[in-house]
Amino acid sequence: MDYRVLGVVLFSFLAYTNAEHVKFADCGSVEGKVSVVDIQPCPSQPCQLRKGQSYTVNVTFTSSVASQTSTAVVHGVVAGVPVPFPIPQSDGCKSGIQCPIVPQKTYSYVNQLPVKNEYPAIKLVVEWELRDDPSKDLFCIKFPVQIVN
Ligand SMILES: *[C@@H]1O[C@H](CO)[C@@H](O)[C@H](O)[C@H]1NC(C)=O
Repeated sequence: MDYRVLGVVLFSFLAYTNAEHVKFADCGSVEGKVSVVDIQPCPSQPCQLRKGQSYTVNVTFTSSVASQTSTAVVHGVVAGVPVPFPIPQSDGCKSGIQCPIVPQKTYSYVNQLPVKNEYPAIKLVVEWELRDDPSKDLFCIKFPVQIVN
């Protein structure tokens, strides 16, 4: 085995993966199904979120329903307790989704997650929901993160 070849192969592979597929758990996507969650930048998991920085979250999902609207609700779960995690744009239709949402179509929901300086430097679970017209979850995903200074 020539390790230089392996190195080149690995390097080209890493250079190609500019968006990170994040390991996530589904927390009740009743009206859709999530295929991929990308967070940028997130070179290692759990994602380290630096205070004062903003992260791009890209959730690719397929809707099973029609909906005129979509509204994002984000929580940080600290020691089992969900705390609201404010995001600047909660309208999913202004976050990469072309509304109205139609059944069996795949969408990429892309939004920013700003990490405020006053957040504590702790590990927590981010729970991200996107709700449809009757307020049911088009998706609900959760993934662990670590807030760092
Ligand atoms: C979001 O992720 C999907 C699937 O990986 C990709 O096709 C799409 O280009 C991404 N969108 C952005 C804005 O990064």
